[in-house]
Amino acid sequence: MLTYEREYQFAKDYPEIFWGEQADKLDWFQKPQTILSVDEHQIERWFSDGVMNTAWMALDYHCQQGRGEQTALIYDSPATGVQKQWNYQALRDDVARVAGMLAAQGVTKGDRVVLYMPMIPEAVMAMLACARLGAIHSVVFGGFAPNELAVRIEDAEPKVLITASCGIEVNKVIPYKPLVDKAIMDSRWKPEQVIIVQRPVHTAELNQARDQDWQRLFEEAKPHECVPVRATDPLYILYTSGTTGKPKGVVRDNGGHAVAMKYSMSAIYNMPQDGVFWAASDVGWVVGHSYIVYGPLIHGCATILYEGKPVRTPDPGAFWRVCQQYQVDILFSAPTAFRAIKKEDPHGEWIHRDSLQSLQAIFMAGERLDPPTLEWVQSHTDKPVIDHWWQTETGWAIAGNPLGIETMPIKPGSSTKATPGYVVEILNEQGEPQQCGQQGYVALKRPLPPGCLPTIWRNHDRFESGYLSQFPGYYVSGDGGYVDEQGYLFIMGRIDDVINVAGHRLSTGEMEEVVGAHPAVAECAVIGVHDALKGQLPLGLVVLKNGMKVDTHQLELELVGQVRDHIGAIACFHHAVVVERLPKTRSGKILRRVIRQIADGESYTVPSTIDDPLSLSELEQALHHDIDHKTG
Ligand code: COA
Ligand code: AMP
Repeated sequence: MLTYEREYQFAKDYPEIFWGEQADKLDWFQKPQTILSVDEHQIERWFSDGVMNTAWMALDYHCQQGRGEQTALIYDSPATGVQKQWNYQALRDDVARVAGMLAAQGVTKGDRVVLYMPMIPEAVMAMLACARLGAIHSVVFGGFAPNELAVRIEDAEPKVLITASCGIEVNKVIPYKPLVDKAIMDSRWKPEQVIIVQRPVHTAELNQARDQDWQRLFEEAKPHECVPVRATDPLYILYTSGTTGKPKGVVRDNGGHAVAMKYSMSAIYNMPQDGVFWAASDVGWVVGHSYIVYGPLIHGCATILYEGKPVRTPDPGAFWRVCQQYQVDILFSAPTAFRAIKKEDPHGEWIHRDSLQSLQAIFMAGERLDPPTLEWVQSHTDKPVIDHWWQTETGWAIAGNPLGIETMPIKPGSSTKATPGYVVEILNEQGEPQQCGQQGYVALKRPLPPGCLPTIWRNHDRFESGYLSQFPGYYVSGDGGYVDEQGYLFIMGRIDDVINVAGHRLSTGEMEEVVGAHPAVAECAVIGVHDALKGQLPLGLVVLKNGMKVDTHQLELELVGQVRDHIGAIACFHHAVVVERLPKTRSGKILRRVIRQIADGESYTVPSTIDDPLSLSELEQALHHDIDHKTG
């Protein structure tokens, strides 16, 4: 049997032995004796009697082992021109002081702290400081609008909110403080304190009664020790888009997460302990949590925090410059980032292969790695380019090409095979396994491995109804796909109302709520249409209220503005088209799949359940008319 097959089979047949051995590789305060058990909701939990601290494993342990001088954090910010590094000792000391600073504000074990931060070192320190105290952090991506932040504040009920005076996007400074103020004003829950990192490029005005200056508090703070927590205590909550307007608070526990991070760094990424790992993502996304902060540090690597874009900061050579400058071993980003590079540097003239000597492989996730992008990156870098599939809910790759176990041949369009610990099955509507090559629901057999979510924050019913109840014994991923005769997994896209824009997961249902609230709109549908750069872009189709006379261009501007104000610029909602009616089934369900096929110019079959087939040709006409109109 090949190495991968052996490891996969062993993890499947003897999960407790397999994960018990992985847990032994970490430094626990109290080693777990119980490897797998079930909680009061009958959900499988890992290492329930283990006692530990994630920040200890990520920082103090390495210092104790004499690796304090080794580089831990590299901050590279083309946005500001700053480049700075921390070794393990220095990062540990700073994090201990930030923990002391939070403790002085009354933050203790189990309290929530919301972070609305740009990609600055203080964001990483704040996350680790929460972990040190056993407090639960919830990072909100800086591209989200105040309303999104407010919804998360209300759900997480943080004692403290940490932010910065601004974020820096390409050629623009985005003041964060007014966004935070609005979010707190709109939220029913008010954090007791707001701590602000003042950045030189823009200073925020502080509200004397509530706001505190990070630097002042930091200077006054005393270092705080690591607080022991149970393996099953939450490390963080990360909100992700579901099918409704209310995002889901994915809960990550401490112990399972640490074990999964450690295992993945070796098994999936084949990272040496003294290597340099670069996840070119954002701490606001799960990739940032797992592979900018926790995975590399728990493994003892150097991690790069890059405050910039793949292009325009300042050029499409940025990724290759960083790889060369810091001798990066593994680069991880989303396919959209490479499509952006390819667009600006189609012949790969910024890529100098000689200077990419240290680079072992390029990993991609966040959306399907489309074969043309795979081919372009592979041929221009001459490196293995690995697609791996995962979700906020799992926190690490469900399927991939595990370089640390065995490098399997790459098949374009496939994320290779299930990672040891996961059992992936393709099910039909009735929950029966599909044959090879047949598409269906991609489901994961329970128990999910360590690191995956045990619940949704304060809404366990949503976890049950959204993921577990459809097929008993399985977790439903929300993705559709198939497995071929050689066991390769092909993820074909979401089967729910979630879309993927530039590797960012967004809810069309949420956009529909915003669009539908416009006084002229009777009904609407938002669908994801194909985009050559960002993979998908949202498109709004709106039906006007009877007798409503509006300037459609003006209406589009208003809808675009409302989605931007409500959800954020990151939604990339730029397009709305007025239609006579929406194609529906006889029972009133909007035929989204067909609408998407029409918008993408694909061939489609008219569903037998359609209420009125004429609605499809009307839609085609409206879309063509709109394109003609916009392209003149
Ligand atoms: N704070 C505030 N605004 C932000 C933001 C942040 N952290 N991140 C993005 N935005 C804004 C952008 O400025 C832009 O605003 P605009 O409409 O006023 O121009 C909007 O949100 C859309 O941003 P984005 O989708 O990132 O588009 P872009 O044109 O700036 O960049 C890419 C395109 C492809 C270069 C970029 O999306 C990218 O690097 N993607 C990589 C994806 C990634 O890291 N995914 C994480 C999973 S691995
Ligand atoms: P997120 O929770 O933001 O990480 O988004 C998870 C979703 O992104 C998945 O459910 C998929 O729809 C999509 N996704 C992530 N990685 C891949 C991949 N490698 N191939 C296909 N789809 C992916």
